[in-house]
Amino acid sequence: MSTITVVGGTGYAGSAIVREAARRGHDVVSFSRTLPADDARVEGVRYETGSMLEAEARLRAVSGSDVVVSSLSPRGELDGKILEADLALAALAAEHGVRLGVVGGFSSLRLEEGAPRIAETDAIPAEYAGEARQMNAVLGELLAQPEPLDWFFVSPAEQFGAYAPGEARGEYRTGADVAFYDADGTSAVSGADFALAIVDEVETPTHRRAQFSVAY
Ligand SMILES: NC(=O)c1ccc[n+]([C@@H]2O[C@H](COP(=O)([O-])OP(=O)(O)OC[C@H]3O[C@@H](n4cnc5c(N)ncnc54)[C@H](OP(=O)(O)O)[C@@H]3O)[C@@H](O)[C@H]2O)c1
Repeated sequence: MSTITVVGGTGYAGSAIVREAARRGHDVVSFSRTLPADDARVEGVRYETGSMLEAEARLRAVSGSDVVVSSLSPRGELDGKILEADLALAALAAEHGVRLGVVGGFSSLRLEEGAPRIAETDAIPAEYAGEARQMNAVLGELLAQPEPLDWFFVSPAEQFGAYAPGEARGEYRTGADVAFYDADGTSAVSGADFALAIVDEVETPTHRRAQFSVAY
């Protein structure tokens, strides 16, 4: 059993990870600026408040954890500041010997081996470009982090998010940095199945200091 802290644990991806980690009996702590409504709380989870733009909240989030999963999004007050927040978490994680996972975007994948990451091209719709580039910058910085930081960065499928929650199938596939698709040519994954992949990675680390992707 591990102590898993999910930063952004009340958001779309974060709440699915919190739910799955608690279901498997881990000690789970969620951090967000506001508490979830009573009916959105997962039993047994400790809900803490604090902004990851504040050093004292980051310290509370990292200390005592085995793994911190950052499921923040570069929206609202984190638009333009996600890199600062995730890098500060990374520095603390390295200092405290804590593993750090970051939930990023599909656009940090390549469409084929050797191609640039999608976020580094003009192929992203303008409405996603800012978010995609900010999360891709987080990946770039993680790739440059020296040992001993133990990190992973996860790119969900193209169709993933609050707009397309999908259903729990109990399955998923993982890839490296090249996007992959199902038999219908779709890249999708539900929140619940994405969370399976994250908690599996926490329980059995297979992507150390690496990016991986999750889709059906
Ligand atoms: N297909 C794709 O590639 C795809 C689709 C969707 C999402 N994503 C990625 O997945 C990640 C998570 O996105 P999401 O949609 O799950 O996010 P989300 O639903 O917007 O959730 C964000 C979470 O962060 C918390 N938060 C916001 N500002 C904070 C702060 N300053 N300090 C602490 N907590 C803060 C929010 O709660 P409070 O507001 O109460 O603080 C919430 O719990 C992002 O990297 C996003 O780009 C990728």
